[in-house]
Amino acid sequence: MDARALENEAQSAIANASTLDELGDARVRYLGRKSELKQALRAVRDRETGMTLNAVREHLEAALATRQAELERAELDRSLSEDVVDVTLPGDAPPRGHLHLITQIRREVEDVFLGLGYRIVDGREVESTHYNFDALNFPHWHPARSRRASLFLNGDTLLRTETSPSQIRVMEEQEPPIYMISLGRVYRRDTPDATHNPIFHQVEGLAIDKGITLADLKGTLLHLMRALFGEERGMRFRTHFFPFTEPSMEPDVSCFLCEGAGCRVCKFSGWIEMGGSGMVDPSLFEFVGYDYEEYSGFAFGLGLERIAQLRHSVPDVRLLWDNDLRFVRQF
Ligand code: DAH
Repeated sequence: MDARALENEAQSAIANASTLDELGDARVRYLGRKSELKQALRAVRDRETGMTLNAVREHLEAALATRQAELERAELDRSLSEDVVDVTLPGDAPPRGHLHLITQIRREVEDVFLGLGYRIVDGREVESTHYNFDALNFPHWHPARSRRASLFLNGDTLLRTETSPSQIRVMEEQEPPIYMISLGRVYRRDTPDATHNPIFHQVEGLAIDKGITLADLKGTLLHLMRALFGEERGMRFRTHFFPFTEPSMEPDVSCFLCEGAGCRVCKFSGWIEMGGSGMVDPSLFEFVGYDYEEYSGFAFGLGLERIAQLRHSVPDVRLLWDNDLRFVRQF
């Protein structure tokens, strides 16, 4: 075949290629290693034929490049017009976290007391034995002072075993009237089981003013319990002993499961223990220099894990610390 005829045939194959695949086929056929043109080029013996064939090769390469650009452009135009993005489709929702159950309860308790005009005070997780025991009237032989009961950092520094030290710090700082709560983590040297964890949360409350009575303490705790557990919740107070309150009482809430009839959860008593409370012992007032003839006050300390367990029937306190998402997501 002469060079002109070959070029014409190749040019029309290139021009007629309607896809990049077809163009690829044409490239192999007319410019591939085994193509007529390449074979002819290898066989060239004279300069003139060589120049003619090389010119054909150059024309065809240029035509191929042009056609390739055209087809790519057409393909881009097609995909731009056909594969339109539907901007009204909802996107993929990013995973979103939420507050842990204990944090939710902490905030609910804070809201209840803010509503009563209380102040929220930060305490210290690392405390001295002075604030954790001495100033709270713990006798020197009290078992909580033992290294086997509490987590000491050195001889007179420990991880607080209760939020009660915050009472002393607030009383040292200001004069009555005081209406404050303080919430946070406390630490005890307990082996974890269904009802114990070496770290847990307490809410401490302290109210000191003229004429505060036990009735104020009972009314305040009843208000809190009803806000947390519902209006029908009953309460009772059992006498108890704490070194820093006199008299001392443990508040119980009627069992959420059996409504007082008695069941496994309340150990067949109909009641569930919530923590400790009482009227502030006058010896604490002496300690911080308040006049106990003029002022009186009440205090309480309740466990937040206990509140969570009661309200949501959480069977094991460790679930509240494990952070297993299958559990955490339920609240
Ligand atoms: N601190 C006590 C405890 O952890 C609870 C408690 C009892 C706190 C009586 C008080 C209180 O403020 O008045 O067992």
